[in-house]
Amino acid sequence: MEPIVKTEDLWKIYRSGKVDVAALRGVQCEVLPGEFIAVMGPSGCGKSTLLHVIGGLAQATRGRVLLDGNDLTRMSDAARTMLRRHKVGFVFQRFNLLPALDARGNIAIAQHIHGDGFDPHRFDTVTRLLGISDRLHHRPAELSGGEQQRVAIARAIINEPKILLADEPTGNLDTKSSESVLRMLRKLNQDLGQTVILITHNPEAASYAHRVLHMRDGQIVDGIPVD
Ligand SMILES: Nc1ncnc2c1ncn2[C@@H]1O[C@H](COP(=O)(O)OP(=O)(O)OP(=O)(O)O)[C@@H](O)[C@H]1O
Ligand SMILES: [Mg+2]
Repeated sequence: MEPIVKTEDLWKIYRSGKVDVAALRGVQCEVLPGEFIAVMGPSGCGKSTLLHVIGGLAQATRGRVLLDGNDLTRMSDAARTMLRRHKVGFVFQRFNLLPALDARGNIAIAQHIHGDGFDPHRFDTVTRLLGISDRLHHRPAELSGGEQQRVAIARAIINEPKILLADEPTGNLDTKSSESVLRMLRKLNQDLGQTVILITHNPEAASYAHRVLHMRDGQIVDGIPVD
């Protein structure tokens, strides 16, 4: 099976002023279709940087990133952006929903930006699975944190990305909402076959994954299979 993501000797060096920070130092990893992977490690070890480079939000300094067989490190910024739009869904700690639009609008706008137009079947499948079918006419301010994050997840996967990249999606949520969001991610993985990479500080959250990658100082130190 061809991996969705493969990195080879991946380096990312941030140059800020006179100081270089090597955030990634030769990361090797592979993510297969249908996998649910958690990434853990201390603050500053490079987790977000890895997600940004894999997802085409940031350019690698050295090495290769293959995303669904396409080498992101040999592409123009414009080509990388196009590929990201078609292949990657992102979710962050902050929900980043548009405050003036209701939940339906926030999700539907992603389908319009994508260029394929509104797909009612996909919309129903995703919103039902995420348990937000009866919240679609509420604006973000009228939704709980957990509901807002579920809307953000719906927006991220509405266009059937090859991979969903989630950077501490439960970081702003209480225990109960966190659990519901994690259960939803697992459901998306199990029912729709959605490939997921989840960054988390919470071992409980990582237990939802098939595999945990542990990072330290810009490297993956091991990948321990769960159960
Ligand atoms: N835009 C940037 N410019 C310069 N240095 C950066 C930049 N972004 C991240 N870094 C540095 O790169 C290293 C890795 O940062 P990164 O955000 O990937 O860590 P992280 O594992 O996601 O941490 P956290 O758990 O706190 O979110 C850190 O030393 C950080 O200070
Ligand atoms: Mg981070």
